[in-house]
Amino acid sequence: MNRLHNDTFLRALLRQPTDYTPLWLMRQAGRYLPEYNETRARAGSFLKLCHSPSLATEVTLQPLARYDLDAAILFSDILTVPDAMGLGLYFADGEGPRFERPLREEWEIRALEVPDPYVHLGYVMDAVAEIRRALAGSVPLIGFSGSPFTLACYMVEGSGSDDFRHVKTMLYDRPDLLHHILEVNARAVTDYLNAQIESGAQAVMIFDTWGGALAHRAYREFSLRYLEQVVSGLKREHDGHRVPSVVFTKGGGQWLESIAAIGCDAVGLDWTVDPAQARARVGDRVALQGNLDPMVLLASPAAVAAQAREVLDAFGPAPGHVFNLGHGISQRTPPENVAVLVDTVHAYSRKQRSGNAEQPAGA
Ligand code: CP3
Repeated sequence: MNRLHNDTFLRALLRQPTDYTPLWLMRQAGRYLPEYNETRARAGSFLKLCHSPSLATEVTLQPLARYDLDAAILFSDILTVPDAMGLGLYFADGEGPRFERPLREEWEIRALEVPDPYVHLGYVMDAVAEIRRALAGSVPLIGFSGSPFTLACYMVEGSGSDDFRHVKTMLYDRPDLLHHILEVNARAVTDYLNAQIESGAQAVMIFDTWGGALAHRAYREFSLRYLEQVVSGLKREHDGHRVPSVVFTKGGGQWLESIAAIGCDAVGLDWTVDPAQARARVGDRVALQGNLDPMVLLASPAAVAAQAREVLDAFGPAPGHVFNLGHGISQRTPPENVAVLVDTVHAYSRKQRSGNAEQPAGA
């Protein structure tokens, strides 16, 4: 039951040698795939997809049917957690996520409670279990959550934002209130990820999408500290297997050493980071995941292959690299380019390990 046909991804996260560099793509199930759009139309909305374990399973498997990816990721959203706290998540047409009741008043903040993941997010746990059964040991399943700070951004702003003025005003005027939200979020995220692990997630990733918007000292106090609290509360083993964790702060390149020190197994890199320098800075403490610019996938197949090889050269063949994009895949990505990317990463990284990577194809 627990035997995996392909455990390359988990081995790479634990910095064990692998025959090739495994890859998966952030948002690999999504709107660039016509079959996703078809299922979403049938479901009626994105949130209905998330709420239905069988439809969530269907879309989780779609990219794996097309491409030889080395991991599946639970189809859901980071904002299900604040929704379970009662904030009322909805998606306005073409405008991204919104909350009916954003957190602005002190009494609302003091009333926040940690949701029981099996009760208020039971549909996510059902999806995790159903996806695990459907994968039947082919590749590992990644569970995920937003970081306490990134969730707080949406909870206080009530939507996405380009300046984060509400949450940052709270940070500077009422840091006690923001700390209270973050404390509740850290407990909620820990419980939520542990429930995903108990339900079958074989690795977990924490998306700190907006940590990079913080000022230098504020990052440490308002994001990193709570990431550390979550990571130290995670179940490290389930069913006799290690469950590795990945922490990704977008825009966090300057804090890599600090992120690598919080106890996670791997650190995600966005495309602004030089992989060779990143490796030199974190040493062999953690695996690294990343970091192709997602916009490369909008260019020609030849450019996709060339840029993928450059990323692999920059990381080198040493153990501890999981190939990914530096952020989520664009909905404008031609699906054929993803096939070129997957095949290039697998073939070229095999050659790197045998010392033949420099030779151009056909030479
Ligand atoms: O990686 C995967 O394939 C798993 C699924 C996944 C989704 N969202 C599906 C989704 C994951 C891991 C997320 C995480 C998520 N959600 C993050 C962190 C990662 C990141 O991208 O920075 C954030 C910030 C969110 C919040 C969110 N959800 C936003 C801002 C949006 C709208 C943006 C957009 O692309 O439209 C969503 C909606 C969303 N989440 C979609 C998908 C496939 C598109 C919804 C649709 O079908 O219309």
